Amino acid sequence: MRIVIAIGGSVLLNDYDYKKFQEYSEILKSLYKEHELFVVVGGGVPARDYINIVRGLNGGEAICDDIGIEVTRINAKILLIGLGEFAYQKVPHNFQEAIEYSSSEKIIVMGGTEPAHSTDAVSAILAEYIKADLLINLTSVNGMYDKDPNKFEDAELISKITVEEMLDFISGKDVKAGTYEFFDMTAIQMIKRSSIRTVIANGYTPKNLLKIINGENIGTTITF
Ligand code: UTP
Repeated sequence: MRIVIAIGGSVLLNDYDYKKFQEYSEILKSLYKEHELFVVVGGGVPARDYINIVRGLNGGEAICDDIGIEVTRINAKILLIGLGEFAYQKVPHNFQEAIEYSSSEKIIVMGGTEPAHSTDAVSAILAEYIKADLLINLTSVNGMYDKDPNKFEDAELISKITVEEMLDFISGKDVKAGTYEFFDMTAIQMIKRSSIRTVIANGYTPKNLLKIINGENIGTTITF
């Protein structure tokens, strides 16, 4: 399969050490032979910290985004170190470069592209560009809940949701469920318009990536 894997920066840098990078490197290497892999990594806490510094200096929002993008690219570079010869050793700065570098038949790792969206959106747009068979979003929660799991103890995991329901939910139309910051709206729009098979799951357990690829039903699957 041709797979786009988005790994949240909060997942990779939760403990501020090398371990998640190492664990993901090993799993990605084990998948390399059978699948075409494109990885998009997020910025996490360091991105947010730097963005706050820029805000303190009255830098505009686009400059804040630029700094966030730089941090995602540092995270991408670090993952490339873990992957070694299995990956193309350059971080694409845009989708054309990602496609170009993929002719190496190695794993591609990138971060952000341009201001005004998150790496969730980058992964969905990349999935469109390369006509991915599957988009996997590995995040800091188990998937999509009916309400914010950080605030409500009785929040329930939604194992299947239609893309329309998800759009309503995120845009706040679904009053019953309430809204919480969970997934980039641009990403959902791309998933919808291109019917991209998407699974959102907890990235703190890197083995979840194997489970999803092996067809196990974990996290939240977006249906059409
Ligand atoms: P992230 O995608 O990491 O944002 O990008 P996030 O929502 O904080 O996700 P986690 O915590 O990593 O899972 C970090 C910041 O970089 C900028 C945005 O400012 C974003 O908040 N960014 C990233 C862009 O402007 N464009 C991009 O393509 C990617």
